[in-house]
Amino acid sequence: MQVFSRKDGRLWAEGVEVAAIADRVGTPCYIYSRAALRQGVRAWVDGLKGTPGLVCYSVKANGNLAVLRTVAAEGAGFDVVSGGELARVQAAGGDQSKVVFSGVGKQPWEIRKALEAKILQFNVESAAELDLIAAIASQLGVRAPVALRVNPDVDPRTHPYIATGLRSSKFGIAMESCMAEYRRAMEMDGLEVVGVDCHIGSQLTSTAPLLEAVARVLDLVDRLGAEGIAVDNLDVGGGLGIVYNDEEPPAADQWARALVEAVGERDLKLIVEPGRSIAGNAGILVTRVLRAKANHDKNFIVVDAAMNDLARPSLYDAYHAIEPVAEGTAGTVEADIVGPVCETGDFLARGRRVAAVEPGGLLAVMSAGAYGSVMASNYNARPRPPEVLVDGGRFAVVRRRETVEDMLAGEQIPAWLKG
Ligand code: LLP
Repeated sequence: MQVFSRKDGRLWAEGVEVAAIADRVGTPCYIYSRAALRQGVRAWVDGLKGTPGLVCYSVKANGNLAVLRTVAAEGAGFDVVSGGELARVQAAGGDQSKVVFSGVGKQPWEIRKALEAKILQFNVESAAELDLIAAIASQLGVRAPVALRVNPDVDPRTHPYIATGLRSSKFGIAMESCMAEYRRAMEMDGLEVVGVDCHIGSQLTSTAPLLEAVARVLDLVDRLGAEGIAVDNLDVGGGLGIVYNDEEPPAADQWARALVEAVGERDLKLIVEPGRSIAGNAGILVTRVLRAKANHDKNFIVVDAAMNDLARPSLYDAYHAIEPVAEGTAGTVEADIVGPVCETGDFLARGRRVAAVEPGGLLAVMSAGAYGSVMASNYNARPRPPEVLVDGGRFAVVRRRETVEDMLAGEQIPAWLKG
């Protein structure tokens, strides 16, 4: 199903005209499709069908409460990386017994919160963290369910900022140390060893690196088994890429089936942590053209969305397709699509041939449902954009536009400065 489609040259989100939403809520604004989110989860669930597998949607990709609620309703659990993300899952009514908690810098309050929530599994990223979790669990008189996140030293062939499974990255525990750490974990009162985990990177467009990592991790599982250390869960992280431009990633169900096959006859529950592949193409960012300008022989289209609203182009030089919300007859122009932020690095696209949209017209930045709104900031004192969820012929604002008052609310001038 095509959730963002055109009728008579005009862009629709499911059964609602995108221009109608922009007129109602203003621009810039994020628009998500509930149908696309559901479809995204279902593809993963289908791929794991017939196995005890679990889809843990990665909250970091898009943690809006309405998005989490949509995903939870499809039976998904969640991958969280902070106490804040766990609070989001709780506020959305997600099933806490299906939560896995990753991240290299878990803090005591976050570990306590996760233990109180009785989450499924801590993905432990260092020996020191193992000790900390064991100590806190003992204090609380419980056993923390742990998996060690293995660093399999595999090159995921993606942008260096989002490659996590390389020997040189901060993530996971070196393969060579894992056996010893598992033995240690088995001896600790506050711990229950339940799984093995890895995550090698994001926006992966071929299964090969992940299957290589999984083979290494399965070898560890087998060695653990030979020592009598049986694990229940094999968490392989997220990472499946999406089509932004001309990528050709496998479909989620195909990807999941390849993983199921790799596990073979082993008695393991496969956990996947997809984020982008569920939310990425379920959302767009709509922006209004403010004006056009040319400097020397270069064209600029200045729009009202900027790097603070969508950081990916500036941060990773990422490609997002940019489409007119209403196709016109004015032809195309090659231009940099830039925002109002005072940095040359503030762009949504560079040297891009786009429809020549007049000032006041709307552009849609495609594939912005994952790592869009969640990475937005107030840089240049710009309030963050609203988020809208479309469901068939209806839509709702699921996060209102931030106001200037919201932005200033937490700040104060000390009395001694007021003089
Ligand atoms: N699990 C773990 C432990 C992760 O670190 C990540 C992503 C995921 C799951 C979800 O990966 P996904 O299925 O979404 O690829 N801001 C960057 C992406 C950073 C990804 C960080 N970790 C971007 O905009 O491309």
